[in-house]
Amino acid sequence: MKFPPNLLDDIRARLSVSQVVSRKVALKRSGREFRGLSPFKVEKSPSFFVNDQKGFYHCFASGEHGDIFKFVMETEGLSFPEAVEQLAAEAGVPMPKPDAHEAKREDERTRLQGLLEASARHFEDNLKGAGGAEARRYINGRGLAQETIRRFRIGYALPGRHVLQEHLAKLGYTVEEMILSGMLIGGEDIKQPYDRFRHRVMFPITDLKDRAIAFGGRALEKDERAKYLNSPETPLFHKGAILFNAAKARPIAHERERLIIVEGYMDVVSLTAAGFGESVAPLGTALTEDQMKLVWRLVPEPILCFDGDSAGKKAAHRAIDTILPHLKPGFSAGFAFLPDGMDPDDLCRQEGPDAMQAVLAKAQPLAEVLWDREFASGDWSTPERRARLQQQVTQLVDRIGDPSVRTHYASAMRERLAAAWAPAYRQGGHRQGQDSFDQRAGGASPSGRTVHAAARDAYRIPGQAKPFQRNAAPRSPGGGKGNWNNQPPPPAIASASLRRSGMVDADSGHPSHREALIMLALLNHPWLIESDLERVAAIEFTSGALNRLRDALLTMASGDISLDRAHVRSQLDSLGLSKVVDLVERAITHKCDRFAEPDADAVEAETGWRHSLGLHEQHSMLRKALAAAERDLNAEGSEDAWARIIEIKQQLARSEDLKLPSGG
Ligand code: UTP
Ligand code: MN
Repeated sequence: MKFPPNLLDDIRARLSVSQVVSRKVALKRSGREFRGLSPFKVEKSPSFFVNDQKGFYHCFASGEHGDIFKFVMETEGLSFPEAVEQLAAEAGVPMPKPDAHEAKREDERTRLQGLLEASARHFEDNLKGAGGAEARRYINGRGLAQETIRRFRIGYALPGRHVLQEHLAKLGYTVEEMILSGMLIGGEDIKQPYDRFRHRVMFPITDLKDRAIAFGGRALEKDERAKYLNSPETPLFHKGAILFNAAKARPIAHERERLIIVEGYMDVVSLTAAGFGESVAPLGTALTEDQMKLVWRLVPEPILCFDGDSAGKKAAHRAIDTILPHLKPGFSAGFAFLPDGMDPDDLCRQEGPDAMQAVLAKAQPLAEVLWDREFASGDWSTPERRARLQQQVTQLVDRIGDPSVRTHYASAMRERLAAAWAPAYRQGGHRQGQDSFDQRAGGASPSGRTVHAAARDAYRIPGQAKPFQRNAAPRSPGGGKGNWNNQPPPPAIASASLRRSGMVDADSGHPSHREALIMLALLNHPWLIESDLERVAAIEFTSGALNRLRDALLTMASGDISLDRAHVRSQLDSLGLSKVVDLVERAITHKCDRFAEPDADAVEAETGWRHSLGLHEQHSMLRKALAAAERDLNAEGSEDAWARIIEIKQQLARSEDLKLPSGG
C-alpha cells in the first residue's frame, strides 16, 4: 500500500522526533536541539543530535540521519509500512480506508488468516490429544522440549483425508476457502477435495507479524514420498519472500546484530532451543533475492550456513550468484560451513551450542568464498590460463550493481589475483624447469639450488629421513634414491654440534620449523606485529630470507593503515617475497601448529606465538653462547670453554628443536 503524503505529515505533526527517540535514547536538551549517546554506535561522549523543528536526527558517530519513521525502522528492525502503522497508532492518526476492491481483498485475507490460525490450533490440539501419541513419540525422539514445541506451535495433522476439512467446516469456512488457503487439495479433476497434510508433524510458517500463513509438514515415516510438504503459493503465502521464523528471529537478530540462515525447519528449531533464536530458513528452496532483501532489513551481514560437503559448497555458490548483483555498501553475507554431513540440528544436538558457535565464528566473507570458488575452478599454471581466471573474476565483479561495491570488489580481486600468482606454480605441479622462475625471489641459496629444493631441505634434520617424504627410503649419502630430485645433499653445516642441536646454517636461508611458525603466525595474524613492534624487530632469524621478510613486515606496520592478511600478502608479492612466504607456509605441511593458522582465534594466536617466540629467543641466546664457546675452544683449547660447550649443548638438547618431527 502506498501512503498518502499527508498521512506521514499528520503523524510527524503529532509525534516529535525527541518523543520517539527518547524511548531508546536518553536525551538532554542542548540549545535548540537534544543530545544523547548514539543508538547506532558504542560511544562515550554523545554525538547523536535530535532537532524537533527540522524533524530529524543526526548521528555524527555513524552518519545515520533520518526522521521518526527511519528511526523506528532502524532501531526496531521494522519495514516502512510497519513503522508507519505503529507510529500512526501511537499518534492516534487513523490509517486510510482501503477502496472497495482493496477492502474486499482485505476481507478475504482476514478470512484466510482466521482459517490458517484455526488450522494451527487444530494441529497443536491433535498433538496433545489421543491420536497424537505416535507424533509425540517422534518429536520426543528428536529431543524437542515442551517449551520449544509451544514456541514454534508444532502440531500434528491426523492421518484421515477429511479431518481438517470437517473441523474447518464446523467453524464456518467454505471448501473454496480451504482450497485457496492451501490446506485442502482440490481442483477440476478432483471430485472430493482432501486434506493436504496427513499424518505429518506440522510447522506453522508465519508472516512478520507472526501470524500463521502456511505450513510445512514433516513425514513421520522414513519412506514417505516427500519428507517435507509445504503449503502451495496462496494469497497469503509467497514462498520466495518469506523465511521460516522471521518474526521471532527479528528482535533477537536486531539485538545481537546477527542472523543465522539455515536450510531446514528442524535446524531453526534446534538452533533456537540451543540459544540461537536469531535463526531463519527458506522454505524448501534456495535463498531468493527477496529473502535476502528481507534479511538485510534485519542485519547487514547475515550468516548463511551450509553443509561442509560438496553439495553444501554448491549451495553456497548458488547463494553467491543470487546475492552478488544486490550487494550494497555495508551489506553482504558471511558463509559458515558445517562439518561434513551434519546440519545445524545434528551439530547442536550432538556437540552442543559451543560447536555451533565455533562454526559461526569461522564464517568467511562472501568475497573470500567467491574467490576460493573461482580459484578452485581450474589450473592456473600458464599465463593464458591466468588471464582466463582474471576474465572470469572480472565478469563476476561486473555483475555487482552498486558502483562503489563493484569498485572495491575489483580491487580486492586484483590483489587476490596478484597474490595467487606464485601459488599458481604450485597448483600446476612441479614441472621440470619450472623452478627457474623461483630464482628471483628471496632465499637464493648458496648452492645455486632453487628455493623449492632449499625449502624441502630446510626442515630436514641431518641424519634423519626427510620430513616431507612419507615412508621415505633411508637416505643414501651422496644422493640417490632417497633424495629430493636427486639433488646433492645440503652444503655442510658449520659445526657438528650445531647440527646435532637441530640448528641450521645462519647463512643458508633455511629457516627452522619454529622460526617458520613464528613468521607464519605474523603473516596470518599481522596485528601481532603491531602488538609488539620492538620485539618483532629484535627477532634474530637464522634464515636471511626470514629476516628480509620480517623487515618488510615492519616497514608495512609503520605505515598508517592497520595490516590485514590479504593486504600483507599482496604487498609481499609485489616486493618479490612471495617465494619466501611459500617457503614459510611449507613449515606446517608436516606439523600443524594451530596458533599460526589463519583461523586460530586471537588469544590462541597470541599465546602460541609468544610461547614460540620465547623459546626461539632463548634458543638464539644459547646458539650465540655455543658459537662463542666453540670459538674459544678452537682458539685456546681451554677446559672452561669445553665445559661451557657441554652445558650449552645439554640445554639445547632440552630445548624443543630436537623434538622436530622426523617425518616418514
Ligand atoms: P533436509 O532433507 O536437509 O531435511 O531438508 P532436514 O531439515 O535435515 O530435516 P530433518 O532433520 O530430516 O527433519 C532441508 C529443508 O528442505 C526442505 C524443507 O524445508 C527442509 O527443512 N525440504 C526437504 C522440502 O521442502 N521437501 C523435502 O522433501 C525435503
Ligand atoms: Mn536434519
